[in-house]
Amino acid sequence: MNHLSHSRRLRDKIRLARGPLDTVAEKLWSHPRLREIYPEFLFRNHAVIRCSVPLMKAAAERCEKMLDTDPVAPGMLEYLRKHIPEETGHDEWVLDDLATLGYRREDVLKRIPPPSAAALAGAQYYWIRHVHPVALLGFIAVLEGTPPDVAFFESTADRIGVPRRAFSNLLLHGKLDPQHRDDLDHALDALPLTGEHHALMGVSAFQTIHLLTRVADEAVQ
Ligand SMILES: [Fe+2]
Ligand SMILES: [Fe+2]
Repeated sequence: MNHLSHSRRLRDKIRLARGPLDTVAEKLWSHPRLREIYPEFLFRNHAVIRCSVPLMKAAAERCEKMLDTDPVAPGMLEYLRKHIPEETGHDEWVLDDLATLGYRREDVLKRIPPPSAAALAGAQYYWIRHVHPVALLGFIAVLEGTPPDVAFFESTADRIGVPRRAFSNLLLHGKLDPQHRDDLDHALDALPLTGEHHALMGVSAFQTIHLLTRVADEAVQ
């Protein structure tokens, strides 16, 4: 028997595993050529963020089908129905930031996204479709679990001589994601999760950390 709350149990796992991701993030934001790298970061960030709403929709669809037979589906569906509109259009913020830096959206969208980002999202479609949609909560817990520090990114924009407008994606997420993180925690705590659900969310979260680290590392290379 595990006496931790569901959210605490997942957050503890993520905290133990996210070291490599934090390391590459530090390397990225303290990079001497950050001004050149930043558009590459945004391109990769867009490749990931564009999947968040479609992934949640795929999970919601699965939950709808299992509504009468799966005890987790109703609560998860309720969470997703609230959160999907809250995340809609956030990929546009990244394109806006790139536009501010002089990258036309047609050109950004024409570029082939990195395979690491495709693997990151593709794995979630697999878990959702073939295993259980609860896996996606591990992915979301990683992605929204450490909201960007608004003051840090404002001063980073100033430091590298880029308009703060070109950091809108990070700055807006810094304002919104503390609430989104808390909302997910409350949703997790209310779900009738078993040890198997926790194991699956853990696998999904670890894989997300691993592949996000690769996505971020490619921006630094
Ligand atoms: Fe978002
Ligand atoms: Fe969010």
